[in-house]
Formats: sequence, structure tokens, C-alpha cells
Amino acid sequence: MSGQGERTFVMIKPDGVQRGVVGSIISRFEDKGYKMVGCKMMDTPTQHCEKHYEEHKERPFFNKLVTYVCSGPVVAMVWEGTESIKGSRNLIGATNPTAATPGTIRGDFAMEMGRNLIHGSDSTESAAKEISHWFEDDELSKWTHHSKEWLF
Ligand code: PPS
Repeated sequence: MSGQGERTFVMIKPDGVQRGVVGSIISRFEDKGYKMVGCKMMDTPTQHCEKHYEEHKERPFFNKLVTYVCSGPVVAMVWEGTESIKGSRNLIGATNPTAATPGTIRGDFAMEMGRNLIHGSDSTESAAKEISHWFEDDELSKWTHHSKEWLF
């Protein structure tokens, strides 16, 4: 944890980039009040993606998931705020977009399990692991508001 609140890792997957909804998705996080402390677009090397999803490597969809996430550029981000791990998962919505509540990102922008737009860390442990997997320390901003208190 650093600054105000906890940090979480969020990744907009290639379908989000290709469909031009990166700005709309980022707005959801800004609207909530979270602070962006890291953001970069990258073409994900296969091994890097496999490592990110390693806990799922025995699952039947693993290869399909890795192929999907490596199929184009992703936008990797770190967001900071009060209980941002749980809160971001709530903004993102259910894993299966068909079940995702309208108003959530997947509920509003996605239709299919294999094209569910976005990933968010699911625990403190995975957030720490994923942030260090995707970002070097010096890629994360230490900026604070000019006032001492963060505005919500
Ligand atoms: S969760 O929410 O992470 O607990 O969901 P889980 O079911 O464990 O899924 C883990 C990640 O695998 C993706 N997933 C799939 N991708 C493609 N096809 C199928 N059938 C499928 N089932 C699950 C799911 O989106 C999770 O990845 P992220 O990137 O976290 O969304």
C-alpha cells in the first residue's frame, strides 16, 4: 500500500483497445474516485501472459485465454483508493458478461466469456503479485494532490 488506500492491478484486454472503449473504461475508475498511478499500453509476450494466469494453467480454457490476451495490445494499469481491489471488481462486474449486472463494465460493454474486456486483481496477494509482474517500481507515480487530503 502506498499513498491513500490500497492498490490494484487492472488490465484492459485487446478487445477493449480494438473497440475503442479504453477511455470509457478509464472514466469508470476516475468517476469512482480512484487515482491512476500507473498506465501503459503493451503487446504482451506469451510467456508474460502465461505467468500472469499461471494459477489457471490446468483449466481447459487456459490456452484460449492466453491467445486472446496476446492477440493485440492491452492497457495495464494500477489504481489506488479505499478498498480498490474489491471496489474495482464491483465496477468490472461478473466474469461472464451475460451474468454481469447492467451498470458494470462487463454488463454494459461485453457479451461473451472469451471477450470479457478487462481483468482486475481478486485479492491483496494477487494485486501485489500482478503489480510487480507488470510494472517496475519507477513506472508507478508517486504523485499526490496539492492538498494533503485526497478528494473523493
Ligand atoms: S475469476 O473471476 O477470476 O474468479 O474467474 P475464473 O472463472 O476463475 O476465471 C479466471 C480467468 O479466466 C477467464 N476465463 C475464461 N476465459 C476464456 N474462456 C473461458 N471459458 C473462461 N472462463 C474463465 C476469466 O475471465 C478470468 O480471467 P480475468 O482476466 O481475471 O477475467
